Amino acid sequence: MRIGVHVGHTGVVAAIRTGVKSSCLILPNWLSVAEMAKNYAIEMTEDGSPTMRIDSGESMHHSGGAWAETLYVYGAALRWALSKTDSSSMRICNVGLGLGYNELLVAALCPQIERLFSFEVESRLVESFEDNLSSISDAYFQNILTQVNAVFPAIDPCLRLLEWRSGGRWRVFPEGLGPDFFAQAQKQMDWTICLYDAFSAQTNPELWEEEFLVQFLASQAGNQFAVFATYACRGSLKRALRRSSFQVLERPGFQGKRNATFAVRGPRQNCDLQELANELRLASQDWKTFSHIR
Ligand SMILES: C[S@@+](CC[C@H](N)C(=O)[O-])C[C@H]1O[C@@H](n2cnc3c(N)ncnc32)[C@H](O)[C@@H]1O
Repeated sequence: MRIGVHVGHTGVVAAIRTGVKSSCLILPNWLSVAEMAKNYAIEMTEDGSPTMRIDSGESMHHSGGAWAETLYVYGAALRWALSKTDSSSMRICNVGLGLGYNELLVAALCPQIERLFSFEVESRLVESFEDNLSSISDAYFQNILTQVNAVFPAIDPCLRLLEWRSGGRWRVFPEGLGPDFFAQAQKQMDWTICLYDAFSAQTNPELWEEEFLVQFLASQAGNQFAVFATYACRGSLKRALRRSSFQVLERPGFQGKRNATFAVRGPRQNCDLQELANELRLASQDWKTFSHIR
């Protein structure tokens, strides 16, 4: 399955938007009618990286830059964590695979990891990402890789993800995250870094409920060092984090967005919040090139 540029098949649906954001929506003609009910629109953001909107709903990223926002929110958290702990012991959980920016970022920044778990309910996104990793076929994915390569020129994040997957280090949970995930499977991921990139509470209310978040945070690795990062800053989230013994920092959001949240727990608990804020501010800057990373 591909989501990509318009190729002109019979049965293809295309949507063009006007203005700063232009978008092009492609549904290959072998999709079933039920699948066709969900529309995907690729939109360009201001840093030249693409994002996606599903069913004319919420966009996956800020219009100011999908890749720039990824680096600002999740890149800073990962860089900060990498300055405190070895990447080979990291168990990273990413909620919302979407177009895969966070997975590519993890693969570019972390030479080794213990585990990477990705959650995504839209099976077409999972299939599309996995197809593109092994053989890039979509113009938007090529565009994403160009952005990633500009910052990490010495790394092939696709190859690294494929190696992690074949070695059992990277796993995608296509059932998505939700109360059933824990109720049915009693899953204990023991994650140490969580990139919580679900849609907002308007679109995904169940993923932002305090009791659910407390349950989710309990899947973290005991008393070990742990980091939680998200673009959002909801009261329910902050309460859940504090109830789960995380120290919570509200950071300025990306490009004027409302605050983002960064939280830490474990040996660095009770660290100085001002110092933490400064460290994160530094970690969110200077993404020009990481050519030294291999
Ligand atoms: C903000 S987007 C993620 C963007 C992605 N991190 C990226 O960099 O492209 C949110 C994603 O969460 C997915 N999603 C929605 N409900 C979910 C659930 N219950 N569990 C996991 N993912 C879910 C959506 O399909 C969407 O792809």
